[in-house]
Amino acid sequence: MSNDPYGDRGNKDWSVGNAKGQGSIMPKASGKTHPAPGGPFLIGDSMTAGYGAGPDILHDCTIAVDRGEIAVIVGPNGAGKSTGMKAVFGMLDMRKGHVRLDGEDITGLSPQDRVAKGMGFVPQTSNIFTSMTVEENLEMGAFIRRDDYKDTMAQVYDLFPILKEKRLQAAGELSGGQRQQVAVGRALMTQPKVLMLDEPTAGVSPIVMDELFDRIIEVARTGIPILMVEQNARQALEIADKGYVLVQGRNAFTGTGKELLADPEVRKSFLGG
Ligand SMILES: Nc1ncnc2c1ncn2[C@@H]1O[C@H](COP(=O)(O)OP(=O)(O)OP(=O)(O)O)[C@@H](O)[C@H]1O
Ligand SMILES: [Mg+2]
Repeated sequence: MSNDPYGDRGNKDWSVGNAKGQGSIMPKASGKTHPAPGGPFLIGDSMTAGYGAGPDILHDCTIAVDRGEIAVIVGPNGAGKSTGMKAVFGMLDMRKGHVRLDGEDITGLSPQDRVAKGMGFVPQTSNIFTSMTVEENLEMGAFIRRDDYKDTMAQVYDLFPILKEKRLQAAGELSGGQRQQVAVGRALMTQPKVLMLDEPTAGVSPIVMDELFDRIIEVARTGIPILMVEQNARQALEIADKGYVLVQGRNAFTGTGKELLADPEVRKSFLGG
């Protein structure tokens, strides 16, 4: 993980560097979801948003996750995946669209208030305090709690045993995969009802990636729906109940992970054939 928010461009899977490839995958009818009220547990619905007074980055973009599921957002660098996550978490002003959590419209809430409502978010960059110990990072995660969080910390250590071993070490000394565990662990300390992860496997080896995915599946099985951005598109779609392909801030393809993996156009443009 680098400190440059635009620096994580180590994509290996994408074959969309060419304009021709992009032209063939622009939005089509299947790209939008129309959830019924009381539908997905968390949804950023028809979001149009940008930074400050800048241009729209998201264009009528919808991302969502259902109860008990893992939803994965993939797409080329600069497609607006992180922007979509930030919009759902309330980090930028939306120009159109709504965010609903468990049926409640939370479009106007601050990120802090969303955390209090049960949202956990691990951003793509700067997601741990490197000079603090692993345990201090987890304690920081529990900042909104007034109750005893020791049980939750024990659960995080059960999920990520290496963190227990290294709990007194500065988080900045850990490997990339271990830092990501700290970041996810920190988010779990608030006992979220839904977890949002932006590229949790960025910069780790394939073996560590598999391990992280296993842990993420484990978290999902405890009943915490997961909405995550992934650059390892193929592997991520394999564990995804629902997948979103974003291109230039728009929904290009939406389907189950299986459907997207089987779609010839998605394969050709995004999965290397
Ligand atoms: N803080 C910001 N201020 C202004 N523009 C931004 C900001 N962050 C991102 N952008 C722009 O928004 C667009 C989408 O960027 P975003 O980071 O959401 O893409 P991404 O799909 O997450 O890419 P990556 O795969 O590289 O993480 C890009 O054109 C980017 O330059
Ligand atoms: Mg990103």
